[in-house]
Amino acid sequence: MTTAQPNAEGTAAGQRSAQEAVEPALLAVEQLQTHFPIRKGLLRRQVGTVRAVDGVSFSIPRGQTLGLVGESGCGKTTVGRSLLRLIEPTGGSVRFAGRDVRGQSRAELRRLRRRMQIVFQDPYGSLNPRMKVRSILEEGLVIHGMGDRATRLERMAAALERTGLAAAALDRYPHEFSGGQRQRIAIARAVVLEPEFLVLDEPVSALDVSIQAQVINLLAELRQELGLTYLFISHDLSVVEYLADQVAVMYLGRIVESAPAEQLCRQPLHPYTQALFSAVPSVEPSRRRQRIVLPGDVPSPSRPPSGCRFHPRCPLAEAVCREVDPPQVDLAGHRVHCHVAGRELDRSGGDATAASAAVAAAIIAATAGPAAPSPPRSDA
Ligand SMILES: Nc1ncnc2c1ncn2[C@@H]1O[C@H](COP(=O)(O)OP(=O)(O)O)[C@@H](O)[C@H]1O
Ligand code: SF4
Ligand SMILES: [Mg+2]
Repeated sequence: MTTAQPNAEGTAAGQRSAQEAVEPALLAVEQLQTHFPIRKGLLRRQVGTVRAVDGVSFSIPRGQTLGLVGESGCGKTTVGRSLLRLIEPTGGSVRFAGRDVRGQSRAELRRLRRRMQIVFQDPYGSLNPRMKVRSILEEGLVIHGMGDRATRLERMAAALERTGLAAAALDRYPHEFSGGQRQRIAIARAVVLEPEFLVLDEPVSALDVSIQAQVINLLAELRQELGLTYLFISHDLSVVEYLADQVAVMYLGRIVESAPAEQLCRQPLHPYTQALFSAVPSVEPSRRRQRIVLPGDVPSPSRPPSGCRFHPRCPLAEAVCREVDPPQVDLAGHRVHCHVAGRELDRSGGDATAASAAVAAAIIAATAGPAAPSPPRSDA
């Protein structure tokens, strides 16, 4: 099981901090599954299943940020939407503030959704172009019966101000704003409802690089000022690293590794995480890594490979990897699913730095091209 903070399972209850005992995680997800049927033909018969999310577990303590990273198509958006039941999960449990989200009635779910908001990737598509900002922000307040007309106006102006926009924006349409400003409006639409938890689904990926840092800083400020808890989804590790307390790495519907952000960045254990980090430029010499180029594309989640799902692309794959799904190894909250990383951790006596270096060295050895031909001998 992968958690942003250790849960009762997997760690001795006695090891849990007093804080956890007093206040369990705000969000706790256990073995979440979201599958989509593949239908064909006139009768729309089901001919297969896309296992977009296939057994994902994590938890997020109040006030913290879990960064969820992985290549496009690995299931990040499906996780985010399943938490709010914008897509109905197929299995597993989602608990928010102690409530079973999957067990809520429609009316209860509506109340819960005020507390759990989502900001989408595309600030162009997510705001209705025919509605003024006033109507976009007011819609949720009306649905949730939050205040009379005058109070709603005050709340909307305050939410815009918090996100760096003037109240005059209320009387304008989305197309009158830049991409960064539109994303600020989308964030204002979420925070005006005074939520506790935000799913941020690639909130800066569609923005110019120069604007990304401003929006990230805004999100960091809001978290601090409003005591928010985030699930921050991104394919870009450098963005996640800045904001996240914990990072979970997804591959083909599963979490393959998770750890406190700093630890995951310095001592990645899973070969897939190492490949992701090798693509992130760093100014710190100790963190510069040789670029690892993975062969092939991500396989289809409708036919996940046997054993370790990463084995067809893994430079370290062994016979066991093709057959046995690697069990989770948990080293004081650094969790990884990999036969080789587990073995290296054993060998090093639980030294994650040494194990991470050993996995990196093995990948470099396995991916190095053929040795350069020796120069012709002068006596030949
Ligand atoms: N409504 C859907 N019906 C069928 N397949 C879907 C649907 N939504 C997503 N998928 C598939 O599920 C997988 C995960 O998608 P997604 O969660 O969007 O990944 P990510 O956000 O990591 O890019 C992809 O293979 C995608 O094609
Ligand atoms: S279990 Fe095997 S195939 Fe999977 S990541 Fe580890 S070494 Fe690679
Ligand atoms: Mg996505």
